[in-house]
Amino acid sequence: MSPSGPKAARFSPINSLRCMGLAHEKLAYSPVGRIFVTKKSQPADAMRSILDSWRIRSGALAATDGRWHDPKYGIVFQRGQGATLWDVLGRDYIDLTCGYSTANFGHCFPPLVQALSHHSGVIGHLTGELHPAKIELAEQLLASTVYANSNMPDLPEQHSLAAQIGNRVGGQTGRVIFNVSGSRAIETAWQAALAHRPGRILCLGPGFHGRSMATSPLSNLESPEEAVPVVNRAAFINWSSSEYPYCERCPVQLTYPACDTQCGQPLLEFLQREAPSISAVLVEPALGARGYIVPPNEFFIRIRRVTNEHNVLMIADEIQTGLGRCGAMQLSAAQGWTPDLVVIGKSLGGGLLPISACVGRADVLDCLPPMAVSETFAATPLACAVALEVLKQLRESDWIEMGSQIGEKLRQSAANCLGSFCTIGGIGASCTIEFSGLDGRMEESQNLAQTFASACCRHGVLVHLSGPWRTRVVLLPPFVINQSELATAIERLGRAASEIIQCSRPE
Ligand SMILES: Cc1ncc(COP(=O)(O)O)c(C=O)c1O
Repeated sequence: MSPSGPKAARFSPINSLRCMGLAHEKLAYSPVGRIFVTKKSQPADAMRSILDSWRIRSGALAATDGRWHDPKYGIVFQRGQGATLWDVLGRDYIDLTCGYSTANFGHCFPPLVQALSHHSGVIGHLTGELHPAKIELAEQLLASTVYANSNMPDLPEQHSLAAQIGNRVGGQTGRVIFNVSGSRAIETAWQAALAHRPGRILCLGPGFHGRSMATSPLSNLESPEEAVPVVNRAAFINWSSSEYPYCERCPVQLTYPACDTQCGQPLLEFLQREAPSISAVLVEPALGARGYIVPPNEFFIRIRRVTNEHNVLMIADEIQTGLGRCGAMQLSAAQGWTPDLVVIGKSLGGGLLPISACVGRADVLDCLPPMAVSETFAATPLACAVALEVLKQLRESDWIEMGSQIGEKLRQSAANCLGSFCTIGGIGASCTIEFSGLDGRMEESQNLAQTFASACCRHGVLVHLSGPWRTRVVLLPPFVINQSELATAIERLGRAASEIIQCSRPE
């Protein structure tokens, strides 16, 4: 893969490019050692011109840099395989972002690519019509949650994921509604909840549920008023971020488990009081987009108890946490509580095609009139074929266990190199690094997190800079990362860590 250090050290164009004064951070020039062999002979001018041409073209298309949603410093990626991405100059990067848990099987995982290419020769597009892959996928999604469909014929054993979950509630009849994106599936769940019982939807402060017009106010965006000019504020309650169990930065300055999740008490009291006006509580079992913050299980179990008492629905947004990323098919089930509706997306399409689904209680989803949420591209034959292969992989191989082992290895490595001024956490195939700075100041924590994320990128490992205050770095390895890629990632993370340790040493 990457050439070793000495070989690359002979490769002078990088240094000359640096001398030319190109923005080092923006272009993410790698340190020597990561140039893809075939491009080694590119002269500096040619490299510069390739980069300039892509930058000029992207600049002409985007009104501002921010519109590209590019936290990766202007890299233009060309291809990917497994856990590795290559940019237009052939430089390799170990991808520990997986598109926020969309590409859990890495890039171009052969069984998924095969499913896609095979089915593309079988049938083309269908809008809403039935086809075998859609029926099978709906059956399997029902079987993988706690909702069985009592009208369903007995399925062969290999079709049932229920055994893996071990949390099936007998007698509940379920339904599945497909959508294309995660936001749209959250809207489906919200609409069904409203049709089931009118009222407000309550979502929790730092959560993220999408950027469609309806979901943006539920997503704690920087400027919610501007982002959602037409959604009536009376439709939702955004519970204060300062009362969320973010244990690494405890809002009530206590420590778990002695705290007994006291920070959640005001929410429970509010729910008890306001339940008649609330239709549903929407939660992420771990805050995916805000840095994989995992509340203690009791937090959700207690909310579930109160919502059950008052017939308030609970919707679990498992778009990031489900399908194995957090060590289980559904994190809510692993936490010991049962949602009424579960929303999945992202990795269901194997990182190849978009597909999402809202799975849950039939008596809730049946409140929606037929066709109320239909979409042209929902559950197309190709997307369903890929999704079926994703579920097959999760069912027939130990990917979830392997993902958790990789997560543990990264947590240990992060603790070794950064443990002295970071709190390392994460669950399943995730590793979180919370920067607290030498004196715990927010600004210093933010600087350190940002500096570390940029250094990782420069050293050739892609990570997410995250957290409600951008004080966290999150590593999300694909389940398929191989030993050599993992070793390379750990070595590069170590190099990035030593850079920031040096920077933060007192003068
Ligand atoms: C937890 C969660 N919910 C919902 C969404 C929205 O999904 P999409 O971008 O597919 O609309 C996201 C996307 O990042 C997410 O992370």
